This record gives sequence, structure tokens and C-alpha cells, in this order.
Amino acid sequence: MTNGSSPIFEDLLAACAQSVEEVLRHLLDDRPREGEIVRPHHLMASMRHGVLNGGKRLRPFLLMESAALFDAERSATLRVAAALECLHCYSLIHDDLPAMDDDDLRRGQPTVHRAFDEATAILAGDSLLTYAFDIIASGETELPAERRLELVGMLARAAGVGGMAGGQALDLAAKDAPPTEEGVVQLQSMKTGALVRFACEAGAVIGNADLAERERLAAFGSAIGLAYQLADDLLDVTASTETMGKATGKDAVAGKATLVGFHGEEWARRQLAGLVAQAEELLEPFGERAAILRLAARFVAERQH
Ligand code: IPE
Ligand code: IPE
Ligand code: MG
Ligand code: MG
Ligand code: MG
Repeated sequence: MTNGSSPIFEDLLAACAQSVEEVLRHLLDDRPREGEIVRPHHLMASMRHGVLNGGKRLRPFLLMESAALFDAERSATLRVAAALECLHCYSLIHDDLPAMDDDDLRRGQPTVHRAFDEATAILAGDSLLTYAFDIIASGETELPAERRLELVGMLARAAGVGGMAGGQALDLAAKDAPPTEEGVVQLQSMKTGALVRFACEAGAVIGNADLAERERLAAFGSAIGLAYQLADDLLDVTASTETMGKATGKDAVAGKATLVGFHGEEWARRQLAGLVAQAEELLEPFGERAAILRLAARFVAERQH
């Protein structure tokens, strides 16, 4: 495995981030939309702080590229990608709260509860979570109504008690009752894997893919979702706070159950290579059309930030 991802991929990721951020900036302006009474400026400012602060936008990228495999319409896809990023940013805002990981730095800036206050951070998270569903359900997302409904249900399951939020609960519980290795894999496939899987599967749903293709993309998402958290845990050990834009070296101190903690760095690197190989194999039927998703799988495992 090489050290680091390709410059071509980083450029593609940055270009996608720019398009998604344009949509996010528009969605997060202070102007109330139909059915809303007023958008409190202070709360909107905290939401913008938590979203428009330079994330990698990997989940939107995966969603856009999965949808591109099926020639999905770009502007509707961008709105679903922006909704997913709102939901992801909510998960980070709450993950950083004192009651959870208690972090002061995110994406190189003060966390939302630091820049504002805890109550505002909780409400910014609540508002971003619900906004994600509003964005997808809205008629402005120009997809057939049954496809929007399908996406809303999928995202609710990926984010909820049997997905990300449930995984966060298991992550916190692991501190007092250390799980088995199998337990760690399960909690990671929930807290991080579920949204990455959603990103890939949603691309197939938006593009009206057939069931077999959709399941293939979902399995691809599961593999790279696990790899993504494994790489995050590895970077917690190996990378600096400056390059990550968030505190590192925290998992062991906080008693977090991670596979890096169980097996060490070398094992984790081998495991990452195995997950990338598995992900690449799943893309085989798509041939050259999936070349960018293949690069994405490598980035997930080899990223340095
Ligand atoms: C951080 O997600 C939380 C994890 C699930 C590892 P990212 O590493 O995607 O963070 P951003 O969005 O780029 O800041
Ligand atoms: C994050 O896991 C999972 C989420 C659902 C937000 P971490 O707690 O390891 O993420 P970082 O390291 O704070 O970004
Ligand atoms: Mg956490
Ligand atoms: Mg954290
Ligand atoms: Mg981490």
C-alpha cells in the first residue's frame, strides 16, 4: 500500500466539496422557507459554523460518484448530498459535546459548543438533523416522490438507533464494559459505517439502479465505511492535531475500544488493505466507470488527514 492518496483524487474531492458547499451555503442562509416562521440568527450562525468549516465532504462525494454510475440528474443528487452532510455535521457537533467526546477543536476551529455554548450546540445539531430530512423530502429535490420517501426512510435508519446514534451509544458504553473484537466491528459499522453505506446506496437509489446494483453499492459502502473508521482510529495514534484539525492521541486515554487498540498499527494497515481489495472487487462489474470510486476506496484507507 502506498503512503497517501493520489493528487488527482484530492482535486476531484475538492471540486465536489466546492459544489456541495455552494448548495449548503444557500440552504443555510437566514431566510425562512415556506412553513417556517423565523430562522433565529444566532442558531443559524452556529449551524453554519458546524457545517461551513472545511470538512472533506467525503460522504457527499461518495453519494455523487455512486449516483454518477447510473447517470443520475446532478442538481437533485447535490441536494441529497448536502442533506447527508448536514446530518453528518450534526453527528460531529454532538460527538464533540462535553457529555460525549468533550473536544474543543474540529476541522481546525473551535467546536460549536466552544464557539457558542452547549445549549446552542445541541440545538444546532437538532436543527441540522431535521433539516436533512426536510431537504430530501422537499419538492425542490427533483426526484419522483416515492424515491424521496425511500431516501428519507433509508437515511432515518442509517442515522438512528440501529445506525449512527445507536453506534455512538455502544461507543460510549464500551468505556465501562470493553466489548469483544466482534463488538467493536459492530459498533463501528454503526457509528460510522451506516452513513457511508447510506452515501453509496443512496447514489444507486437516486439513479434508479436495479436491486442487485443497489446491494452491490451498499456492500461497497459497508466495506469502506469500516475502513474509514479504522483509518480514523489509526490517525488518532499516528497523526498530529495540526494535520487532522482535531485532537489526536485521545482514544487510548479516553478508554475507547478500537481495533488499533486491540491489534496495533501494523495489523490495522493490513486490515485496511484487505478492506480496499474487498471494496474494489465489489466494483468490478462496473468496469472503468467506477474508476473514481476505486480511487475513493484507496483514499479512505490511505488518507493522511
Ligand atoms: C469524522 O468524519 C468522524 C468519523 C466518522 C471518522 P470525517 O473524517 O469525514 O470528518 P470531516 O467531515 O472531513 O471533518
Ligand atoms: C465519530 O467517531 C463517529 C461519529 C458518528 C461522529 P470519533 O469520535 O472517533 O470521531 P472523531 O475522531 O471525533 O472525528
Ligand atoms: Mg466519538
Ligand atoms: Mg469524537
Ligand atoms: Mg476518532
